[in-house]
Amino acid sequence: MAAEAPTIPLLTPYKLGRFNLSHRVVMAPLTRVRSYGNVPRPHAILYYSQRASKGGLLIAEATGVSDTAQGYPDTPGIWTKEQVEAWKPIVDAVHAKGGIFFCQIWHVGRVSNQGFQPNGQAPISSTDKPLTPQANGTDNPKFTLPRRLRTEEIPQIINDFRLAARNAIEAGFDGVEIHGAHGYLIDQFMKDQVNDRTDQYGGSLENHCRFALGTVEAVANEIGADRVGIRLSPFADYMESGDSNPEALGLYMAESLNKYGILYCHMVEPRMKTAEEKSESSHSLLPMRKAFKGHFFVAGGYDREDGNKAIAESRADLVVYGRLFLANPDLPKRFKLNAPLNKYNRDTFYISDPALGYTDYPFLEDTA
Ligand SMILES: Cc1cc2nc3c(=O)[nH]c(=O)nc-3n(C[C@H](O)[C@H](O)[C@H](O)COP(=O)(O)O)c2cc1C
Repeated sequence: MAAEAPTIPLLTPYKLGRFNLSHRVVMAPLTRVRSYGNVPRPHAILYYSQRASKGGLLIAEATGVSDTAQGYPDTPGIWTKEQVEAWKPIVDAVHAKGGIFFCQIWHVGRVSNQGFQPNGQAPISSTDKPLTPQANGTDNPKFTLPRRLRTEEIPQIINDFRLAARNAIEAGFDGVEIHGAHGYLIDQFMKDQVNDRTDQYGGSLENHCRFALGTVEAVANEIGADRVGIRLSPFADYMESGDSNPEALGLYMAESLNKYGILYCHMVEPRMKTAEEKSESSHSLLPMRKAFKGHFFVAGGYDREDGNKAIAESRADLVVYGRLFLANPDLPKRFKLNAPLNKYNRDTFYISDPALGYTDYPFLEDTA
């Protein structure tokens, strides 16, 4: 019998607030567009349970908070009773394997078009500046002109996040991750390339972050701060949402989040300049890691070696894996054994098939 490989930093236990993790390898939120009609489907039971492990944390794919939150076909939601019920067996399956499961709650804002909106209305945003059409791999049809939210409407949108968080708990999730990254609604308020408001939600850095922090506060008050995380990508400029001073933005958010005592801050590495490509960057998340008093997750372009290093050097508490976890349902085990990895197939990331490129990536014992 082969000798067990020595314990690596990624495979050491970690106490994440009330959750006892047995390792530091987290599954990233991954949109898979297989929730027909915005309702999670039974094939997701197998998909998530394949990736669950005892004491392992999974973050569910971006999940819409309301009927205005969608911009892609067949992404799941969590604003109706039917959706909540549909999530339950998926969450149960993850729990049955000892996993911990957070739901990423999401509003796309202007990354949408009228076809996805109730009554064909305009997508809502911080701005009325349009987004230029772009190839983003999901065949997103053309974007249509967004409508700038009126100041007095903003509390309703924050309320949608609050209710979605309540629904996530009702569905059995252990907590929620607020999607504040990648050019979607919350990011559209934070980033100065997008936000051109003149009310209390625009202008200064503090005002740009008011929507994000208001959402954090509402969600934390609703379900308890110890069940709330947020994902941020201050350095990214996907969907034309760059910022002229991402360091200041990231740091301001990290410091401000301390007020709410939330469980974790999950930041995307500056090297992830575009959604799925790594490039060199001289920037670092270290100042934000130091400023934030809760648990700190990093994501973007990590492999086994790099993840181990991040933990060993205390640059992060947990490392989040996207594409590697998508293609390797038993990723923590493979890291433990230093086993070869399945390669991911981009062509099947965003297709409707309930199995192909979804639940058919082989486990280690199948490939041996
Ligand atoms: C197929 C696919 C779907 C994704 N969907 C989401 C999503 O729903 N929410 C999110 O915050 N990030 C999403 N991302 C970004 C990933 O969570 C992750 O940050 C990115 O893939 C970089 O990490 P990696 O190098 O480990 O793959 C997605 C990425 C991919 C490849």
